[in-house]
Amino acid sequence: MNDKERETILFVDDEEGLVELAGEYFRRKGFRLFTAKNGAEAVEILKHESIDCCFTDLNMPGMDGLELAGYIRQLDSSIPVIVVTGYPSLDSAVNTLKNGVVDFLVKPVRFSMLEACLGRVLRERRLFIDNIFLKKKLEGKSRLEALNRELTNKVEELNTLNMIMSNLSSIDASSDIFKCVTDLATEITNADESRFYVINDDIQQPFQVAASCGSAGEICDDGLDDVAELLMETVNDKIPFLVAENKNVRGLPEKILSFMAVPLKIRERVFGILVLHVIGGDTRFDKKDLFYMSFLTMNAASSIENIALYDNIFDNLFSTLYAFVQALEARDPYTRQHSDRVARLSVSIAGEMGCSKEEMDIIDFAGRLHDIGKIGVMDKVLLKPGKLTDEEFDMIKKHPVIGAKIIGQLGMWDREQEIIKYHHERFDGTGYPEGLKGEKIPFLARILAVADAFDAMDSDRAYRKKMEIERIMDIINEAAGTQFDPDVVKVFQKLYKQGNIQQTKKE
Ligand SMILES: [Fe+2]
Repeated sequence: MNDKERETILFVDDEEGLVELAGEYFRRKGFRLFTAKNGAEAVEILKHESIDCCFTDLNMPGMDGLELAGYIRQLDSSIPVIVVTGYPSLDSAVNTLKNGVVDFLVKPVRFSMLEACLGRVLRERRLFIDNIFLKKKLEGKSRLEALNRELTNKVEELNTLNMIMSNLSSIDASSDIFKCVTDLATEITNADESRFYVINDDIQQPFQVAASCGSAGEICDDGLDDVAELLMETVNDKIPFLVAENKNVRGLPEKILSFMAVPLKIRERVFGILVLHVIGGDTRFDKKDLFYMSFLTMNAASSIENIALYDNIFDNLFSTLYAFVQALEARDPYTRQHSDRVARLSVSIAGEMGCSKEEMDIIDFAGRLHDIGKIGVMDKVLLKPGKLTDEEFDMIKKHPVIGAKIIGQLGMWDREQEIIKYHHERFDGTGYPEGLKGEKIPFLARILAVADAFDAMDSDRAYRKKMEIERIMDIINEAAGTQFDPDVVKVFQKLYKQGNIQQTKKE
Protein backbone atom coordinates (compact mmCIF):
# COMPACT_ATOMS: atom_id res chain seq x y z
CA MET A 1 0.00 0.00 0.00
CA ASN A 2 1.54 3.35 -0.92
CA ASP A 3 1.24 6.60 1.01
CA LYS A 4 -1.62 7.83 -1.10
CA GLU A 5 -3.71 4.76 -0.37
CA ARG A 6 -2.96 4.66 3.36
CA GLU A 7 -5.26 6.61 5.62
CA THR A 8 -3.55 9.58 7.20
CA ILE A 9 -3.93 10.64 10.80
CA LEU A 10 -2.99 13.92 12.37
CA PHE A 11 -2.20 13.61 16.09
CA VAL A 12 -2.03 16.88 18.00
CA ASP A 13 -0.94 17.05 21.63
CA ASP A 14 1.51 19.07 23.66
CA GLU A 15 2.56 15.92 25.62
CA GLU A 16 5.56 14.83 23.61
CA GLY A 17 5.71 11.36 25.12
CA LEU A 18 2.13 10.62 24.23
CA VAL A 19 2.61 11.93 20.70
CA GLU A 20 5.63 9.70 20.19
CA LEU A 21 3.91 6.58 21.51
CA ALA A 22 0.78 7.21 19.51
CA GLY A 23 2.86 7.80 16.39
CA GLU A 24 4.66 4.54 16.83
CA TYR A 25 1.45 2.64 17.55
CA PHE A 26 -0.49 3.85 14.54
CA ARG A 27 2.45 3.63 12.12
CA ARG A 28 2.81 0.02 13.14
CA LYS A 29 -0.84 -0.47 12.39
CA GLY A 30 -0.21 0.73 8.84
CA PHE A 31 -1.43 4.32 9.04
CA ARG A 32 0.38 7.35 7.76
CA LEU A 33 0.92 9.70 10.66
CA PHE A 34 1.57 13.40 11.18
CA THR A 35 2.06 14.87 14.63
CA ALA A 36 1.88 18.40 15.96
CA LYS A 37 2.45 19.96 19.35
CA ASN A 38 -0.30 22.55 19.04
CA GLY A 39 -3.05 23.94 16.80
CA ALA A 40 -0.77 26.27 14.84
CA GLU A 41 1.56 23.42 13.83
CA ALA A 42 -1.44 21.29 12.93
CA VAL A 43 -2.80 24.04 10.68
CA GLU A 44 0.51 24.15 8.78
CA ILE A 45 0.29 20.40 8.18
CA LEU A 46 -3.35 20.65 7.10
CA LYS A 47 -2.39 23.27 4.52
CA HIS A 48 -0.15 20.79 2.71
CA GLU A 49 -1.39 17.31 3.51
CA SER A 50 -4.59 15.47 2.96
CA ILE A 51 -5.77 14.26 6.36
CA ASP A 52 -8.41 11.59 7.00
CA CYS A 53 -8.78 11.98 10.75
CA CYS A 54 -7.48 14.26 13.49
CA PHE A 55 -6.93 13.48 17.19
CA THR A 56 -6.40 16.59 19.24
CA ASP A 57 -5.88 17.62 22.82
CA LEU A 58 -7.99 20.51 24.04
CA ASN A 59 -5.59 22.55 26.14
CA MET A 60 -2.52 23.46 24.17
CA PRO A 61 -0.38 26.59 24.02
CA GLY A 62 -1.24 29.02 21.24
CA MET A 63 -4.09 27.64 19.17
CA ASP A 64 -6.07 25.17 21.30
CA GLY A 65 -8.00 22.08 20.23
CA LEU A 66 -11.35 23.82 20.01
CA GLU A 67 -9.99 26.45 17.66
CA LEU A 68 -8.32 23.77 15.59
CA ALA A 69 -11.61 21.85 15.32
CA GLY A 70 -13.26 25.05 14.06
CA TYR A 71 -10.51 25.54 11.51
CA ILE A 72 -10.84 21.96 10.24
CA ARG A 73 -14.59 22.31 10.01
CA GLN A 74 -14.13 25.33 7.77
CA LEU A 75 -11.44 23.61 5.72
CA ASP A 76 -13.21 20.31 5.09
CA SER A 77 -16.19 19.32 7.19
CA SER A 78 -15.76 15.67 6.22
CA ILE A 79 -12.54 15.33 8.27
CA PRO A 80 -13.53 13.77 11.62
CA VAL A 81 -11.98 15.40 14.70
CA ILE A 82 -11.70 13.39 17.93
CA VAL A 83 -10.86 15.24 21.11
CA VAL A 84 -8.60 13.50 23.61
CA THR A 85 -8.38 15.48 26.86
CA GLY A 86 -7.21 15.06 30.39
CA TYR A 87 -9.54 17.77 31.78
CA PRO A 88 -13.01 17.05 30.67
CA SER A 89 -15.91 19.31 31.60
CA LEU A 90 -19.47 19.34 30.38
CA ASP A 91 -18.97 22.81 28.90
CA SER A 92 -15.92 21.83 26.91
CA ALA A 93 -17.63 18.66 25.69
CA VAL A 94 -20.66 20.63 24.50
CA ASN A 95 -18.47 23.28 22.84
CA THR A 96 -16.39 20.71 21.00
CA LEU A 97 -19.45 18.92 19.73
CA LYS A 98 -20.80 22.24 18.53
CA ASN A 99 -17.61 22.65 16.54
CA GLY A 100 -18.19 19.43 14.66
CA VAL A 101 -16.09 17.13 16.88
CA VAL A 102 -17.32 13.56 16.37
CA ASP A 103 -16.01 11.93 19.56
CA PHE A 104 -14.67 12.88 22.96
CA LEU A 105 -12.20 10.64 24.80
CA VAL A 106 -10.82 11.15 28.28
CA LYS A 107 -7.16 10.59 29.23
CA PRO A 108 -5.64 8.33 30.17
CA VAL A 109 -6.74 6.48 27.09
CA ARG A 110 -5.65 3.13 25.73
CA PHE A 111 -4.37 3.11 22.16
CA SER A 112 -6.61 0.17 21.36
CA MET A 113 -9.53 2.45 22.29
CA LEU A 114 -8.20 5.16 20.04
CA GLU A 115 -7.84 2.62 17.29
CA ALA A 116 -11.41 1.36 17.70
CA CYS A 117 -12.69 4.92 17.64
CA LEU A 118 -10.54 5.67 14.61
CA GLY A 119 -11.82 2.61 12.77
CA ARG A 120 -15.41 3.70 13.40
CA VAL A 121 -15.01 7.34 12.31
CA LEU A 122 -12.99 6.41 9.23
CA ARG A 123 -15.68 3.94 8.20
CA GLU A 124 -18.30 6.63 8.70
CA ARG A 125 -16.20 9.10 6.73
CA ARG A 126 -15.77 6.68 3.85
CA LEU A 127 -19.53 6.15 3.79
CA PHE A 128 -20.11 9.88 3.99
CA ILE A 129 -17.71 10.55 1.11
CA ASP A 130 -19.15 7.71 -0.94
CA ASN A 131 -22.59 9.14 -0.29
CA ILE A 132 -21.59 12.61 -1.41
CA PHE A 133 -19.91 11.13 -4.47
CA LEU A 134 -22.96 9.04 -5.30
CA LYS A 135 -25.27 11.98 -4.74
CA LYS A 136 -23.16 14.16 -7.01
CA LYS A 137 -23.03 11.42 -9.61
CA LEU A 138 -26.78 11.03 -9.39
CA GLU A 139 -27.33 14.76 -9.58
CA GLY A 140 -24.97 14.95 -12.53
CA LYS A 141 -26.73 12.07 -14.22
CA SER A 142 -30.19 13.48 -13.73
CA ARG A 143 -29.01 16.95 -14.79
CA LEU A 144 -27.56 15.38 -17.92
CA GLU A 145 -30.76 13.46 -18.51
CA ALA A 146 -32.82 16.63 -18.09
CA LEU A 147 -30.55 18.49 -20.52
CA ASN A 148 -30.80 15.62 -22.94
CA ARG A 149 -34.56 15.60 -22.68
CA GLU A 150 -34.64 19.35 -23.21
CA LEU A 151 -32.37 19.03 -26.23
CA THR A 152 -34.42 16.19 -27.73
CA ASN A 153 -37.58 18.23 -27.21
CA LYS A 154 -36.01 21.27 -28.84
CA VAL A 155 -34.82 19.24 -31.83
CA GLU A 156 -38.25 17.67 -32.16
CA GLU A 157 -39.87 21.10 -31.90
CA LEU A 158 -37.58 22.59 -34.53
CA ASN A 159 -38.18 19.63 -36.84
CA THR A 160 -41.93 20.04 -36.50
CA LEU A 161 -41.80 23.80 -37.12
CA ASN A 162 -39.52 23.23 -40.08
CA MET A 163 -41.87 20.60 -41.50
CA ILE A 164 -44.78 23.07 -41.23
CA MET A 165 -42.82 25.86 -42.92
CA SER A 166 -41.46 23.76 -45.77
CA ASN A 167 -44.80 22.08 -46.50
CA LEU A 168 -46.65 25.38 -46.62
CA SER A 169 -44.03 27.20 -48.65
CA SER A 170 -44.21 24.64 -51.45
CA ILE A 171 -47.91 25.39 -52.04
CA ASP A 172 -48.97 27.91 -54.66
CA ALA A 173 -52.76 27.64 -54.63
CA SER A 174 -54.97 28.60 -51.70
CA SER A 175 -57.18 25.58 -52.27
CA ASP A 176 -54.24 23.22 -51.65
CA ILE A 177 -53.36 24.94 -48.37
CA PHE A 178 -56.40 23.68 -46.48
CA LYS A 179 -55.69 20.05 -47.31
CA CYS A 180 -52.05 20.59 -46.39
CA VAL A 181 -53.09 22.14 -43.04
CA THR A 182 -55.36 19.23 -42.09
CA ASP A 183 -52.81 16.61 -43.22
CA LEU A 184 -50.06 18.26 -41.18
CA ALA A 185 -52.36 18.75 -38.18
CA THR A 186 -53.29 15.06 -38.09
CA GLU A 187 -49.69 13.96 -38.52
CA ILE A 188 -48.24 16.26 -35.87
CA THR A 189 -50.84 15.75 -33.13
CA ASN A 190 -51.80 12.12 -33.84
CA ALA A 191 -55.42 13.25 -33.98
CA ASP A 192 -58.02 10.81 -35.21
CA GLU A 193 -59.40 13.49 -37.43
CA SER A 194 -58.82 17.10 -38.37
CA ARG A 195 -60.94 19.44 -40.43
CA PHE A 196 -60.66 22.94 -41.74
CA TYR A 197 -63.68 25.19 -41.89
CA VAL A 198 -63.92 28.52 -43.63
CA ILE A 199 -66.11 31.07 -41.89
CA ASN A 200 -68.72 32.57 -44.13
CA ASP A 201 -69.38 36.21 -43.39
CA ASP A 202 -73.00 36.18 -44.52
CA ILE A 203 -74.38 33.15 -42.78
CA GLN A 204 -71.89 33.06 -39.88
CA GLN A 205 -71.69 29.33 -40.34
CA PRO A 206 -68.49 27.26 -40.61
CA PHE A 207 -68.10 25.64 -44.01
CA GLN A 208 -65.86 22.59 -44.27
CA VAL A 209 -63.26 22.79 -47.03
CA ALA A 210 -60.78 20.07 -46.09
CA ALA A 211 -60.46 17.06 -43.83
CA SER A 212 -57.88 14.42 -42.96
CA CYS A 213 -58.14 11.35 -40.84
CA GLY A 214 -55.38 9.64 -38.90
CA SER A 215 -54.66 5.97 -38.61
CA ALA A 216 -57.84 5.33 -36.60
CA GLY A 217 -60.28 5.37 -39.48
CA GLU A 218 -62.58 7.39 -41.64
CA ILE A 219 -64.00 10.85 -41.30
CA CYS A 220 -67.36 10.78 -39.60
CA ASP A 221 -70.09 12.94 -41.04
CA ASP A 222 -71.81 14.14 -37.94
CA GLY A 223 -68.90 15.94 -36.25
CA LEU A 224 -69.71 19.50 -37.24
CA ASP A 225 -73.31 19.61 -36.09
CA ASP A 226 -72.26 18.44 -32.66
CA VAL A 227 -69.59 21.07 -32.13
CA ALA A 228 -70.88 23.94 -34.28
CA GLU A 229 -71.71 26.03 -31.23
CA LEU A 230 -68.24 25.55 -29.78
CA LEU A 231 -66.68 26.51 -33.12
CA MET A 232 -68.63 29.73 -33.31
CA GLU A 233 -67.53 30.57 -29.76
CA THR A 234 -63.91 30.10 -30.83
CA VAL A 235 -64.55 32.28 -33.87
CA ASN A 236 -65.98 35.03 -31.69
CA ASP A 237 -63.27 34.76 -29.03
CA LYS A 238 -60.56 34.62 -31.70
CA ILE A 239 -58.40 32.46 -29.44
CA PRO A 240 -57.57 28.74 -29.60
CA PHE A 241 -59.64 26.32 -27.58
CA LEU A 242 -58.12 23.18 -26.02
CA VAL A 243 -59.83 20.37 -24.17
CA ALA A 244 -57.07 17.96 -23.16
CA GLU A 245 -59.48 15.53 -21.51
CA ASN A 246 -63.20 15.82 -22.13
CA LYS A 247 -64.92 15.66 -18.74
CA ASN A 248 -68.42 16.67 -19.74
CA VAL A 249 -67.34 19.91 -21.38
CA ARG A 250 -70.40 21.86 -22.42
CA GLY A 251 -71.14 21.53 -26.11
CA LEU A 252 -68.66 18.70 -26.66
CA PRO A 253 -70.10 15.24 -27.40
CA GLU A 254 -69.11 12.50 -24.98
CA LYS A 255 -67.49 10.38 -27.69
CA ILE A 256 -64.85 13.09 -28.27
CA LEU A 257 -62.07 12.40 -25.77
CA SER A 258 -59.75 15.28 -26.60
CA PHE A 259 -60.44 18.37 -28.70
CA MET A 260 -58.79 21.44 -30.20
CA ALA A 261 -60.14 24.35 -32.24
CA VAL A 262 -57.63 26.89 -33.56
CA PRO A 263 -58.74 29.98 -35.47
CA LEU A 264 -56.87 31.06 -38.59
CA LYS A 265 -56.73 34.84 -38.59
CA ILE A 266 -55.91 37.13 -41.46
CA ARG A 267 -55.40 40.68 -40.27
CA GLU A 268 -57.15 39.93 -36.99
CA ARG A 269 -60.25 38.68 -38.76
CA VAL A 270 -61.08 35.00 -38.29
CA PHE A 271 -60.97 33.54 -41.77
CA GLY A 272 -61.27 29.87 -40.85
CA ILE A 273 -60.89 27.36 -38.09
CA LEU A 274 -58.84 24.20 -37.68
CA VAL A 275 -60.59 21.53 -35.64
CA LEU A 276 -59.02 18.34 -34.31
CA HIS A 277 -60.32 15.57 -32.19
CA VAL A 278 -59.55 12.19 -30.67
CA ILE A 279 -62.28 9.59 -30.37
CA GLY A 280 -60.26 6.56 -29.23
CA GLY A 281 -56.84 5.43 -28.07
CA ASP A 282 -54.43 7.15 -25.70
CA THR A 283 -53.67 10.35 -27.57
CA ARG A 284 -54.59 13.51 -25.65
CA PHE A 285 -53.80 16.97 -26.89
CA ASP A 286 -51.58 19.18 -24.76
CA LYS A 287 -50.22 22.72 -24.77
CA LYS A 288 -47.42 21.74 -27.11
CA ASP A 289 -49.96 20.50 -29.68
CA LEU A 290 -51.79 23.78 -29.29
CA PHE A 291 -48.54 25.66 -29.86
CA TYR A 292 -47.83 23.67 -33.05
CA MET A 293 -51.36 24.17 -34.34
CA SER A 294 -51.23 27.90 -33.64
CA PHE A 295 -47.94 28.07 -35.51
CA LEU A 296 -49.48 26.07 -38.36
CA THR A 297 -52.56 28.29 -38.72
CA MET A 298 -50.45 31.45 -38.40
CA ASN A 299 -48.17 30.35 -41.23
CA ALA A 300 -51.07 29.09 -43.33
CA ALA A 301 -52.61 32.56 -42.95
CA SER A 302 -49.49 34.26 -44.32
CA SER A 303 -49.31 31.75 -47.17
CA ILE A 304 -52.93 32.48 -48.08
CA GLU A 305 -52.21 36.20 -47.99
CA ASN A 306 -49.12 35.79 -50.16
CA ILE A 307 -50.92 33.67 -52.71
CA ALA A 308 -53.80 36.15 -52.84
CA LEU A 309 -51.34 38.97 -53.30
CA TYR A 310 -49.51 37.07 -56.04
CA ASP A 311 -52.77 36.13 -57.77
CA ASN A 312 -53.76 39.77 -57.69
CA ILE A 313 -50.49 40.92 -59.24
CA PHE A 314 -50.69 38.08 -61.75
CA ASP A 315 -54.25 39.03 -62.75
CA ASN A 316 -53.36 42.70 -63.02
CA LEU A 317 -50.34 42.07 -65.21
CA PHE A 318 -52.16 39.64 -67.40
CA SER A 319 -55.11 42.02 -67.84
CA THR A 320 -52.75 44.81 -68.86
CA LEU A 321 -50.94 42.68 -71.42
CA TYR A 322 -54.14 41.19 -72.74
CA ALA A 323 -55.56 44.68 -73.16
CA PHE A 324 -52.54 45.48 -75.39
CA VAL A 325 -53.27 42.46 -77.56
CA GLN A 326 -56.94 43.35 -77.85
CA ALA A 327 -56.10 46.95 -78.76
CA LEU A 328 -53.66 45.67 -81.35
CA GLU A 329 -56.17 43.29 -82.89
CA ALA A 330 -58.95 45.87 -82.80
CA ARG A 331 -57.03 48.07 -85.23
CA ASP A 332 -56.98 45.32 -87.80
CA PRO A 333 -60.42 44.02 -88.77
CA TYR A 334 -58.85 40.81 -90.11
CA THR A 335 -57.23 39.77 -86.85
CA ARG A 336 -59.96 40.75 -84.39
CA GLN A 337 -60.35 38.11 -81.64
CA HIS A 338 -57.65 36.02 -83.35
CA SER A 339 -55.65 35.42 -80.16
CA ASP A 340 -58.74 34.45 -78.21
CA ARG A 341 -59.71 31.84 -80.80
CA VAL A 342 -56.15 30.50 -81.05
CA ALA A 343 -56.10 30.11 -77.26
CA ARG A 344 -59.41 28.20 -77.24
CA LEU A 345 -58.35 25.93 -80.08
CA SER A 346 -54.94 25.27 -78.51
CA VAL A 347 -56.58 24.32 -75.22
CA SER A 348 -58.85 21.81 -77.05
CA ILE A 349 -55.89 20.18 -78.80
CA ALA A 350 -53.83 20.15 -75.61
CA GLY A 351 -56.72 18.52 -73.73
CA GLU A 352 -57.09 15.83 -76.37
CA MET A 353 -53.34 15.20 -76.27
CA GLY A 354 -53.51 14.46 -72.55
CA CYS A 355 -51.92 17.65 -71.25
CA SER A 356 -52.26 18.48 -67.55
CA LYS A 357 -54.50 21.24 -66.17
CA GLU A 358 -51.36 23.31 -65.60
CA GLU A 359 -50.25 22.90 -69.22
CA MET A 360 -53.71 23.84 -70.47
CA ASP A 361 -53.57 27.00 -68.34
CA ILE A 362 -50.13 27.77 -69.76
CA ILE A 363 -51.21 27.35 -73.38
CA ASP A 364 -54.38 29.36 -72.75
CA PHE A 365 -52.29 32.21 -71.34
CA ALA A 366 -49.68 31.96 -74.14
CA GLY A 367 -52.38 31.68 -76.80
CA ARG A 368 -54.02 34.89 -75.74
CA LEU A 369 -50.71 36.75 -75.68
CA HIS A 370 -48.84 34.96 -78.48
CA ASP A 371 -48.79 37.93 -80.86
CA ILE A 372 -48.15 40.60 -78.22
CA GLY A 373 -44.74 41.21 -79.84
CA LYS A 374 -46.54 42.85 -82.76
CA ILE A 375 -46.79 46.01 -80.67
CA GLY A 376 -43.10 46.41 -81.55
CA VAL A 377 -43.79 46.30 -85.30
CA MET A 378 -44.54 49.53 -87.15
CA ASP A 379 -48.17 50.11 -88.13
CA LYS A 380 -47.37 50.70 -91.78
CA VAL A 381 -45.99 47.17 -91.94
CA LEU A 382 -48.49 45.57 -89.62
CA LEU A 383 -51.55 47.09 -91.26
CA LYS A 384 -50.28 47.02 -94.85
CA PRO A 385 -53.10 45.68 -97.00
CA GLY A 386 -50.97 44.30 -99.85
CA LYS A 387 -48.16 41.78 -100.08
CA LEU A 388 -45.14 42.43 -97.82
CA THR A 389 -41.63 43.01 -99.13
CA ASP A 390 -38.84 40.78 -97.80
CA GLU A 391 -37.66 43.61 -95.59
CA GLU A 392 -41.15 44.14 -94.18
CA PHE A 393 -41.55 40.43 -93.61
CA ASP A 394 -38.25 40.42 -91.70
CA MET A 395 -39.73 43.07 -89.41
CA ILE A 396 -42.85 40.95 -88.83
CA LYS A 397 -40.65 37.96 -88.08
CA LYS A 398 -39.29 39.76 -85.03
CA HIS A 399 -42.61 39.64 -83.17
CA PRO A 400 -42.12 36.26 -81.43
CA VAL A 401 -38.82 37.42 -79.89
CA ILE A 402 -40.22 40.84 -78.94
CA GLY A 403 -43.25 39.12 -77.37
CA ALA A 404 -41.07 36.70 -75.40
CA LYS A 405 -39.00 39.64 -74.12
CA ILE A 406 -42.09 41.52 -72.94
CA ILE A 407 -43.27 38.48 -71.00
CA GLY A 408 -39.74 37.62 -69.85
CA GLN A 409 -39.11 41.04 -68.34
CA LEU A 410 -41.71 40.27 -65.70
CA GLY A 411 -39.53 37.45 -64.38
CA MET A 412 -42.23 34.81 -64.44
CA TRP A 413 -44.11 32.68 -66.94
CA ASP A 414 -41.05 30.90 -68.35
CA ARG A 415 -43.01 28.24 -70.23
CA GLU A 416 -45.47 30.77 -71.61
CA GLN A 417 -42.51 32.82 -72.81
CA GLU A 418 -41.10 29.80 -74.70
CA ILE A 419 -44.38 29.16 -76.49
CA ILE A 420 -44.60 32.78 -77.59
CA LYS A 421 -41.00 32.76 -78.78
CA TYR A 422 -41.30 29.55 -80.81
CA HIS A 423 -44.85 29.63 -82.16
CA HIS A 424 -43.55 30.28 -85.70
CA GLU A 425 -40.95 27.53 -85.72
CA ARG A 426 -41.59 24.75 -88.25
CA PHE A 427 -41.24 21.04 -87.55
CA ASP A 428 -38.70 20.65 -90.41
CA GLY A 429 -36.49 23.41 -88.96
CA THR A 430 -37.22 26.10 -91.57
CA GLY A 431 -39.24 28.37 -89.29
CA TYR A 432 -38.21 31.40 -87.24
CA PRO A 433 -36.74 32.90 -85.07
CA GLU A 434 -34.19 30.12 -84.43
CA GLY A 435 -34.99 27.39 -86.95
CA LEU A 436 -35.56 24.83 -84.20
CA LYS A 437 -36.43 21.38 -85.50
CA GLY A 438 -38.80 18.60 -84.41
CA GLU A 439 -38.92 17.95 -80.71
CA LYS A 440 -36.47 20.77 -80.04
CA ILE A 441 -39.51 23.02 -80.45
CA PRO A 442 -41.43 23.12 -77.13
CA PHE A 443 -44.40 20.77 -77.33
CA LEU A 444 -47.02 23.39 -76.47
CA ALA A 445 -45.55 25.73 -79.13
CA ARG A 446 -46.06 22.94 -81.70
CA ILE A 447 -49.73 22.76 -80.67
CA LEU A 448 -50.16 26.53 -80.85
CA ALA A 449 -48.60 26.62 -84.34
CA VAL A 450 -51.41 24.42 -85.72
CA ALA A 451 -54.16 26.43 -83.99
CA ASP A 452 -52.58 29.71 -85.17
CA ALA A 453 -52.37 28.55 -88.79
CA PHE A 454 -55.94 27.21 -88.74
CA ASP A 455 -57.37 30.50 -87.50
CA ALA A 456 -55.31 32.52 -90.01
CA MET A 457 -56.71 30.46 -92.90
CA ASP A 458 -60.16 30.61 -91.35
CA SER A 459 -60.08 34.44 -91.43
CA ASP A 460 -60.54 36.91 -94.24
CA ARG A 461 -57.45 38.77 -95.31
CA ALA A 462 -57.18 41.94 -97.34
CA TYR A 463 -55.87 39.91 -100.28
CA ARG A 464 -58.10 36.82 -99.96
CA LYS A 465 -61.31 35.53 -98.48
CA LYS A 466 -61.23 32.93 -95.72
CA MET A 467 -60.87 29.36 -96.96
CA GLU A 468 -63.34 26.53 -96.76
CA ILE A 469 -62.73 24.23 -93.82
CA GLU A 470 -62.10 21.13 -95.99
CA ARG A 471 -59.39 23.05 -97.84
CA ILE A 472 -57.85 24.22 -94.56
CA MET A 473 -57.81 20.68 -93.21
CA ASP A 474 -56.14 19.43 -96.41
CA ILE A 475 -53.44 22.08 -96.16
CA ILE A 476 -52.78 21.27 -92.51
CA ASN A 477 -52.71 17.55 -93.26
CA GLU A 478 -50.22 18.02 -96.08
CA ALA A 479 -47.99 20.09 -93.81
CA ALA A 480 -47.72 17.31 -91.19
CA GLY A 481 -44.01 16.62 -90.76
CA THR A 482 -42.91 19.77 -92.62
CA GLN A 483 -44.60 22.77 -91.01
CA PHE A 484 -46.36 20.90 -88.21
CA ASP A 485 -45.75 18.13 -85.70
CA PRO A 486 -47.51 15.09 -87.27
CA ASP A 487 -48.78 13.94 -83.85
CA VAL A 488 -50.50 17.29 -83.30
CA VAL A 489 -51.99 17.18 -86.81
CA LYS A 490 -53.30 13.67 -86.15
CA VAL A 491 -55.11 14.86 -83.02
CA PHE A 492 -56.34 17.96 -84.82
CA GLN A 493 -57.83 15.77 -87.60
CA LYS A 494 -59.45 13.59 -84.96
CA LEU A 495 -61.04 16.63 -83.31
CA TYR A 496 -62.24 17.82 -86.73
CA LYS A 497 -63.81 14.43 -87.51
CA GLN A 498 -65.50 14.47 -84.13
CA GLY A 499 -67.04 17.80 -85.10
CA ASN A 500 -65.05 19.75 -82.54
CA ILE A 501 -63.28 21.98 -85.08
CA GLN A 502 -65.61 24.28 -86.83
CA GLN A 503 -65.34 27.24 -89.08
CA THR A 504 -65.69 30.44 -87.12
CA LYS A 505 -68.55 32.79 -87.91
CA LYS A 506 -67.13 36.25 -87.75
CA GLU A 507 -69.13 39.39 -87.61
FE1 LIG B 1 -47.70 35.06 -84.62
